[in-house]
Amino acid sequence: MSVLEGKELRIVGFLCNWCSYGGADTAGVARATQPTDLRIIRVPCSGRVDPLFVVRALLNGADGVLVSGCHPRDCHYSSGNFYARRRLEILKQFLPVLGIDDRRFEYTWVSAAEGQRWQHVVTTFTERLHNLGPAPQLEDAAPLLKVADMVLTALRPLGTGQNTALDELKAAIVKKLPELECVIGWQQGRDAAHHVPLFIRTPDDVNKLTWGPFNVNNPAVYLPTFKGKKVGIVVKGCDARSVVELLQEHLINREDVTIFSLPCEGTLDMARVDQTLGRYTNLDKVEYDEAGVTITADGTAHRFCMADFAQGKCYGCSTPSAVLADERFGTPVQVTPGEITPPELALLDAMSLEERLSFWHGQMERCLRCYACRNACPLCVCRDYCVSDSRDPHWMTQEDTPREKLFFQAIHALHLAGRCTGCGECQRACPVGIPILALRQQIARAVGQLFHGYAAGMNPEEVPPLLGYEVVEENIQERDWK
Ligand code: FES
Repeated sequence: MSVLEGKELRIVGFLCNWCSYGGADTAGVARATQPTDLRIIRVPCSGRVDPLFVVRALLNGADGVLVSGCHPRDCHYSSGNFYARRRLEILKQFLPVLGIDDRRFEYTWVSAAEGQRWQHVVTTFTERLHNLGPAPQLEDAAPLLKVADMVLTALRPLGTGQNTALDELKAAIVKKLPELECVIGWQQGRDAAHHVPLFIRTPDDVNKLTWGPFNVNNPAVYLPTFKGKKVGIVVKGCDARSVVELLQEHLINREDVTIFSLPCEGTLDMARVDQTLGRYTNLDKVEYDEAGVTITADGTAHRFCMADFAQGKCYGCSTPSAVLADERFGTPVQVTPGEITPPELALLDAMSLEERLSFWHGQMERCLRCYACRNACPLCVCRDYCVSDSRDPHWMTQEDTPREKLFFQAIHALHLAGRCTGCGECQRACPVGIPILALRQQIARAVGQLFHGYAAGMNPEEVPPLLGYEVVEENIQERDWK
C-alpha cells in the first residue's frame, strides 16, 4: 500500500543498474519507508534511456516518470549520463508543448550507497505527483481546432525575387554540368502557380529552371540519395542550412556537392494560396511584381501579397542568403537583427497546458498518418528503417488513434532535436495542414537556450549538441532534491 494519502498513481522509474537500482535496493534493505506508486524498470545506464521511453509512458497513461542514474563523472560507461542529461533536459522543455506538465517528468542521480537519498527522491517526486493528481489523458481532452495567425512584420524584405540573376545562374549551371550527375532545382509543375523539383541532366533542362515564391520544396531532401556522386543543388537560404546539417552529420561529402545560391525573398504558403484559389479549370496567367503575385484562374484575378501570404517561417528568417555556397548570384538580402516567435509556436505559447492537449487531440484526429511529413524532411534519413515502421522493436502500433499519431510526431520531433533547421517541409507537405512545425520549433528554441544560441545547419564544422556533452553544463540547472 502507498504510504501517501489517496489513490496510488502510476509512476514509471527508469533506474540505472549500477547506481540508482543499487540505491533503491539499499533503501529496501535498510527498510526505509517508501511510497509504492513507483514501477521500476532496470536499464544498463541512464544513457540507455531514450526520451521516447518517457513520452511513450506518459502518453500511455503514466502519471509520472522518473529517470535516475549514476552521479555525473560516476557513470560505469564513463559518459552515458552526460549524454542522457542533455537529452532529458531537452525532453523536459519539450513536454509542455504537447500539453504534458513537465513536473510529471524528472531525472536525477542516486548512487548505490545513497539509500537515504533514494528514499527522499522517490518520496518527494511521488508527493509532487499526488499534489498534481492523475495525469489528464489525450483522449479525454475535448478536441480543439485553432489556426495560427500570421505575424505580419518580417525581419527581412519579402518579395518575389524576379529581378534576381537567374540567367547568370543558368549559365553557371550549364558550365558546371559536364562534371556533375545532375543539378537539383525547381521547375513548373501542373501549372505556372505550382512548382516542383527539377533534376537537370542536360543543358536543355536548364531552361526549365524557375526562381520565385513558388519554389517551396527543399531540394536538400534528395542529396543523401546521391551520396558518393557529384551533384549540384540550387538553394534558398533555408535549404542551404539543411545542406550544412547533412554535412555536419557526414551524410553527404562536401567535395561531391556544388552549391548554387540566390538570395531568397520568401516563399508562398501554398496551402493558403490553394484555399484562396479554390477549384479552377484553367490557370490563365501568373503575373509577378515586387510585392507579390497575381494569379488569374478561370477569368478571376487573385492577388497574393508576399507580406500576407508568405510561409510562417519566412517572416522570422535570418538566413535568406545561403550560409554556405560555391557560387552565389544576386544581391544579398539584408536582415534586421532580432527574433520573431514563429506563428505556429506563438499559437501554442498562448495556450494553457489543457488547451494544448485539446489542440493536439483535435489536430491528431485529422492526421491521416500518411508520413508525408517524414518523407519531405531533409533530415529524416532513416527511410526504410524508421522506428515508426519497425516491428522489432515495436515502438508504435498501427492503431488509428490520436495517441499513436501524436507519439509519431513526438518521435519525429525528438529525432530532430538539435538537427532541425526549421525549413518547414514537414508542415508544408502535410495534406491536412497540421501545424506540426511548432513541435520542432519548441525543441530548436530549447536547444538554443541550453547550448549558447546553437542553431542547426549554420556551420559545417560544428558538432550538433546532442552528439556531445560538457562535464559541467553551464545552462542545465539540475534540480535540487534537498
Ligand atoms: Fe549508471 Fe551510466 S552506468 S548512468
